[in-house]
Order: sequence, then structure tokens, then C-alpha cells
Amino acid sequence: MKISVIGAGNVGATCAEYCAHHELAEQVVLLDIKEGFAEGKALDLWQTAPINNYDSRIIGSTNDYEATKDSDVVVITSGLPRKPGMSRDDLIATNAGIVKSVTENAIHYSPNAIFIIVSNPLDVMTYCAFLTAKIDSRRVFGMAGILDTARYKAFLATELNCSPKDIQAVLMGGHGDTMVPLPRYTTVSGIPVTELIDAEKLDAIIERTKVGGGEIVKLLGTSAWYAPGAAAAQMVEAIVRNQKRIFPCCVWLQGEYGIKDLYIGVPVKLGREGVEEIIELQLNEDEKALLRDSEKAVREVKDALDAMNLFA
Ligand code: LAC
Repeated sequence: MKISVIGAGNVGATCAEYCAHHELAEQVVLLDIKEGFAEGKALDLWQTAPINNYDSRIIGSTNDYEATKDSDVVVITSGLPRKPGMSRDDLIATNAGIVKSVTENAIHYSPNAIFIIVSNPLDVMTYCAFLTAKIDSRRVFGMAGILDTARYKAFLATELNCSPKDIQAVLMGGHGDTMVPLPRYTTVSGIPVTELIDAEKLDAIIERTKVGGGEIVKLLGTSAWYAPGAAAAQMVEAIVRNQKRIFPCCVWLQGEYGIKDLYIGVPVKLGREGVEEIIELQLNEDEKALLRDSEKAVREVKDALDAMNLFA
């Protein structure tokens, strides 16, 4: 198995570290455009192998995509992160060009790979990679739902003073402030969360989750990386180990949930083939309305990408 992570910034390096540490592949390639950067990170990471006891090789490359040849999974983290005051959508002009060129190079050397996109604005950058790669949409999808759900679960675990392991939840929609956490599908070891927490507190947690990325940008002056990197790696793990795990991921919808021709987050089953199933929940009217709002927000950004005529 071979995994390539494009972009050796904080998210990419965190993802590569998890992949190697969990021995998800014999080879983990880290590639970056900045001279020597990926090599440096890869060397430092490889030197953790004797300490952390793993034998997955980590290799760094400065923009030489040949190093990524025949990857089974390619994770794209390239692009600028947010600065305080920016929305993810503000990044579209810069990051669309980057994601397009990275995808072109990566697909050239790994035509059979599965592509996981992490660059922002997430839903539309995933669409951008799909248009570039021109492969089955089951092999191109984005990481957002696992991260957003992890934030929601972490806040709940803090509030309930319980183990985050016991919290099950699903969240849908775009990776932005219109994301749709679903309290009706949130349990703590099977107990509906609404029996353990009052409505007001739950609402506050949902609102905090929606702006969870922004909270960290404000604190750090740049985007988060530990949770985004780990979330992307968990998707890699589900694929390379053919785990058939069910996660919210950003996928191409063709009529599911009444949404067509749009990349947006919904629960799916992930395995060796990529997105092996899209799971359609029976949403109530309120939940449907929230999903529509999120769809509208993602579509506006998609229209902005289409207007850039990158794929004319
Ligand atoms: C976040 C960025 C990575 O949500 O989108 O932290």
C-alpha cells in the first residue's frame, strides 16, 4: 500500500504522521512545493519510527510527483489556510488553481488512486478535484464531516464529563457555518443525548460546533491541524483496511436528499472502493430545511468556481 499526502504543512504532516504511526501503508510520501520542506518533515517523522515503533517509510519530495507514482490513496491538503476574519470561501480564488494543478499531477502518476480532499473551501475544492481528475466520483471525496463531528463530540464529552469514545453522532451539510449537526441522531452509548443535556446547552454546543474552525483560527491566527489531519487519516484507514466505516464525508450527490450535481457532506460507507454507499437518513422537516440552507451556501461558492472558467 502507498499513501501520498500533498502539502506538507501542519495538516498534511499530521495526516502523514498518523498514517505512518498506524502503519496504514508501507510507504507514506509527503510532497510540497517549498524546497526541502517535505524532505525535512519526512526525515523528522521517520526519526520517530524507532521511538513509536513502526516501519512505514516516510519519504519527502519537493514537487516531484514521480515520488507519488502508483499511490493507492492521495490526500490533498495544499492551499492557503484561513487567517483571522476570513471565511473558508475567501480562499477560493487562490486554492482552486492550486487544487487543480496538484490533482492534475497526482492523477497522472496514480490513475487508480482514491483522492481525499482537505483544502478549503472544502466542498467546492472537492468538486474542483473531481472536475480535474475526471474519475468516478466514488473515488474523489472530501474530509469535513469527521472533523466537524469530532468537534461536536468533544464539546459534548466536556459538557457531560464523559468519554468521547461513548458519543455517537452524525452531522451533514457543507463545511461552513451552515453545517447541520443532528441532535436526533446523537447518542451517548445509545442514550439519546437529549435525555442527558438540556435543550439550551445542546443548542449552545451546536452553535459552537458550527464555528469550531473559526474559534481555533482566532486563537492561533491560522487554521487547526491536529483534528483535521487525524480526521483525514481516519478516512485513509477506512479505505486501506477496507473497514466499511460509516462517516459523514463530502461526496457528489446525484439526487440523494433531493440534491443534484453538488459535493456536500452526508453519511457514507467508506471501504477499499472509496464511497461504497451513500446513506439516506429520513430527515424531518426542520432538518431538511437546515440542509437546504447549507446546500444553498455551498452552491453559491460552486457558482463562483464555475464562473472562474477553469474547466472551459
Ligand atoms: C477547520 C478547517 C481546517 O475547520 O477547515 O479547522
